[in-house]
Amino acid sequence: MKPSIQKITVRNLITFLSVLAIITVFITGVNFRGLAKQAMRNQALAHAELVKSGLTAHMKAGIMDKRDYYLEEIMRLHNVNSLHVIRSEPIIGQFGSGKALEREFDSVTKQVFETKQPVFILDEYTLRPTVRATIPYIATSEGKLNCLGCHQVPAGTVLGAVDIELDVSDYQRRSLVVLAGLAATSVIFLILIAVNTSHTIRRHVQSPLHTLIERAKIAYRQHSPVNPEIFTTKEITHVANEINLFNSKVIAHRDLLRKKNKDLMALNDEIEGTLRETVYAMGVIEEQRSKETHNHTKRVTLFCQLLARELELSDEDVDMITAASPLHDIGKLGIPDEINLKPGKLTDEEFKIVQNHARIGYAMLKHSTRDILRAAAIIALQHHEKWDGSGYPQGLRGEEIHVYARIVALADVFDALISPRVYKEPWELQRAVEWITEQRGRHFDPAVVDVFVDHVDDFAAIHDHYPYDTDTDYEDLFAIAQ
Ligand SMILES: [Fe+2]
Ligand SMILES: [Fe+2]
Repeated sequence: MKPSIQKITVRNLITFLSVLAIITVFITGVNFRGLAKQAMRNQALAHAELVKSGLTAHMKAGIMDKRDYYLEEIMRLHNVNSLHVIRSEPIIGQFGSGKALEREFDSVTKQVFETKQPVFILDEYTLRPTVRATIPYIATSEGKLNCLGCHQVPAGTVLGAVDIELDVSDYQRRSLVVLAGLAATSVIFLILIAVNTSHTIRRHVQSPLHTLIERAKIAYRQHSPVNPEIFTTKEITHVANEINLFNSKVIAHRDLLRKKNKDLMALNDEIEGTLRETVYAMGVIEEQRSKETHNHTKRVTLFCQLLARELELSDEDVDMITAASPLHDIGKLGIPDEINLKPGKLTDEEFKIVQNHARIGYAMLKHSTRDILRAAAIIALQHHEKWDGSGYPQGLRGEEIHVYARIVALADVFDALISPRVYKEPWELQRAVEWITEQRGRHFDPAVVDVFVDHVDDFAAIHDHYPYDTDTDYEDLFAIAQ
């Protein structure tokens, strides 16, 4: 799952501010340490100067035997851990040694005497941190206290040193308190900034975005724009406006597509209608050219439609057989006129030639990709097949014969029986029905015969409505094709 803007922002903010706080505390700590060291140095130097002035005064006053009291008072009053005086060789030679609060030479005092520079040693990593300051006294004739007045040494001679140990725990404690305060303040500010940032993002980014998404969905469904005024920030308002613009374009495109689709459907209907009319006209042309009785195509088409509907074929199948059945004998256009138009009975040889109309019709139509013409091709090929397999041209039987062809077979034969031909009178309806009933399961599909028998009156009505002795009404023909 992807992190939220709120999470990323707060995380980054905490990281950066934490690093900033750590750096700040570190720098402050280092500075405090430096300041503390400097302060301790200054304090030690001031004490050393105080000791020097005091001892010189004692010497001038001739009360050196009282100096220990003075030094102890300095230690007590100035919070000094220890205070020692160290005499140099010339002073020991002049005044002797062995006084209280004096200290033996060690490596530090040796270094101070040699370099004539103070040495400060900080021992800060203990429970009670201290600094030891060893400060040399250099003989000088300058200032109010002229050393050379008492000491018989040349100027610049190291007369001795003061060794002071100061307690720095107070400095360290104060520094730690300041650093802790700084760190605590940083943490508090860090938390406050994180909370505030989180709240700001939730209020001004996350919540408006969520609202915007919901409003955008409603806007798309209801085709109403998102109201940009409900958002408090410039950016979200801008996005809302962009969504409105996008939605309006989508809706406009959709309307355009709907219109184009409607136009295409109308065009398709027109093409389909034209094809149906053309197919029907071709059937009529074939009918007029051959010996077929007047209105044969029209009646057969309506018989087929009736049978298909009563057989409970789908609406698409009913529609398809209605459109395609007019071409059932289109192959007769390929039969020579002298045979096709021959009055009277055909010879066996001529009859065989006539039978070719099934294959010729199929060959004429089979290459089409249009559903109507493909259905017409099947009907043309199979409409003389018989249920018992004794038909032509392939001798198909039963359900091997397409249901369209099984329907057309009955419709075509029925119309031929009750219509006049040059070689016969029209049969009475009853006789035709009886003959067709006899052919149930032989010539015709039993199911088709059953439907036919159940609706004989409807077939008779169609036959009466389109009699064979009237002129062709072309407007009516096209009405059927539709
Ligand atoms: Fe035929
Ligand atoms: Fe026919």
